[in-house]
Amino acid sequence: MADMDNRLGRVLVIVPTYNEADNIQGIVGRIRDAVPEAHLLVADDNSPDGTGAVADGLAAADDQVHVLHRPGKQGLGAAYIAGFRWGLERGYDVLVEIDADGSHQPEELPKLLAAVAGGADLAIGSRWVPGGKVVNWPGSRELLSRGANAYSRMMLGLRVRDSTAGFRAYRAATLEKIGLSDVESQGYCFQIDLTLRTVRCGLRVVEVPITFVDRTVGTSKMDRSVMTEAMWRITAWGVTGVPKRFKRHR
Ligand code: GDD
Ligand code: MN
Repeated sequence: MADMDNRLGRVLVIVPTYNEADNIQGIVGRIRDAVPEAHLLVADDNSPDGTGAVADGLAAADDQVHVLHRPGKQGLGAAYIAGFRWGLERGYDVLVEIDADGSHQPEELPKLLAAVAGGADLAIGSRWVPGGKVVNWPGSRELLSRGANAYSRMMLGLRVRDSTAGFRAYRAATLEKIGLSDVESQGYCFQIDLTLRTVRCGLRVVEVPITFVDRTVGTSKMDRSVMTEAMWRITAWGVTGVPKRFKRHR
C-alpha cells in the first residue's frame, strides 16, 4: 500500500454503529489495511448487542482506533455530527464517513481520499454516476435511493447524483464553514442536508464512482421514521427556501 498523499494531513475515518457486533472487527481490520496511516473512530449508540465493548477491545489493542460512546440511539446524523466534533477538536484535517456493514468497501477509500487531495472540498462515493454500481440491493431499496435523489434534485436544485450517499470524505475546513451547530437532521437525511450546505457555500463536491454492496450480516437501520424525516425536511427546504439560511456561514 502506497503512503497516503501527504497533502491530506491527518485523516479520521468515522464508523457509526448500532448493533454491528458481528461486523465491527472485520470492517476495522479492512479500514486499517486500506489506509494504514488514518485514525479510526467508532461512534456507537450504546448498541444492545455489545458493539461498543467489541470496539473498546479493538481500541485497547491499537493506538489508531478510538471509540465514542453515546448514551442511546439518536440517529445516524446525530452520531456523525458528534464524531465530526470529536475529530475537529483533535485537529484532524480530513473526516471520512463509512458504514460498518461492508456496503462501503474500505479498499475504495484511497480513491475517495485522492479526490480530496486533488482539490475536492467534499468527495462523495457515488452509486449513481457512470461507473458506480450497487450489488445485491433489493429493487425496493434502489427505487427508494433513486427516488430520494430525484426528489432532492428537483426540490433543492442539487446537481449531485447521490446526495444520500454515506461514503464520503470532508475537509475539516468544509465542516467548519458549513456550520454544524444548527444542523437539525437526526437521521439519514443529514447526508442531503450537509451536501446542500456544502454546495450552497460554493465549495467543490466531487462524486467518485463506487460499488455499494448490500450487507450480508445484520440488518439495516433504515425505517419509516428515517424516510418520513427525509421527506418532510427536503420538502420544507424546497418550499420555504431554508437553503438560503445555509449560506450564512459563508
Ligand atoms: N451510532 C449510530 N446511530 N449508528 C447508526 C444509526 C444510529 O442511530 N443508524 C444507523 N447507524 C449505522 C449502522 O450501524 C451502519 O454502520 C451505518 O450507520 C449505516 O446503516 P444501515 O442501516 O446499514 O444503512 P443502509 O444500508 O440501510 O443505508 C445506506 O444507504 C443510504 C442511502 O441509500 C447507508 O449508506 C446510508 O448512509 C445511506 O444514506
Ligand atoms: Mn447498510
